[in-house]
Amino acid sequence: MAEKELTLSIIKPDGVERNIIGRIISRFEKAGLTIRALRLTRLTREEAEAFYAVHRERPFFDSLATYMTSGPIVVSVLEGYNAIQKNRELMGATNPEKADEGTIRKDFAKNVEINTVHGSDAPETAAKEIAFFFPETELIKGNR
Ligand code: CMP
Repeated sequence: MAEKELTLSIIKPDGVERNIIGRIISRFEKAGLTIRALRLTRLTREEAEAFYAVHRERPFFDSLATYMTSGPIVVSVLEGYNAIQKNRELMGATNPEKADEGTIRKDFAKNVEINTVHGSDAPETAAKEIAFFFPETELIKGNR
């Protein structure tokens, strides 16, 4: 049997502001993903720029950092078989106009920037992104 995998999820400021944290987390749980770590926090400008450093040269970088610091976010570590891909399927395409029916972004996202959730895109980025928010000691092993 394949190993369980970890991925980082962020409910972005628009999701927290609209009070849909529970509805989003419920989708993760219904899909068989379990929560290994969870925190409500607010990014500083420095942290937002560091988290999205790979996008530094993109024209939307400044605006993205402003949006990501505009209010609190919920960061969590999700665990499950194929968790990275599963979470990406639940989120849908970056641009909600291109997202499949029934996905989080199709149902909740405002536009390509204000898109409600973030999820790691590969095992290497998942490891980096999890470490960015959670020290190893905050990851709970075997929550069921
Ligand atoms: P996310 O999956 O967190 O990864 C990078 C983020 O940059 C993305 O979600 C969006 O919030 C934002 N983003 C990506 N593409 C664009 C774009 N073309 N214009 C504005 N923001 C974007």
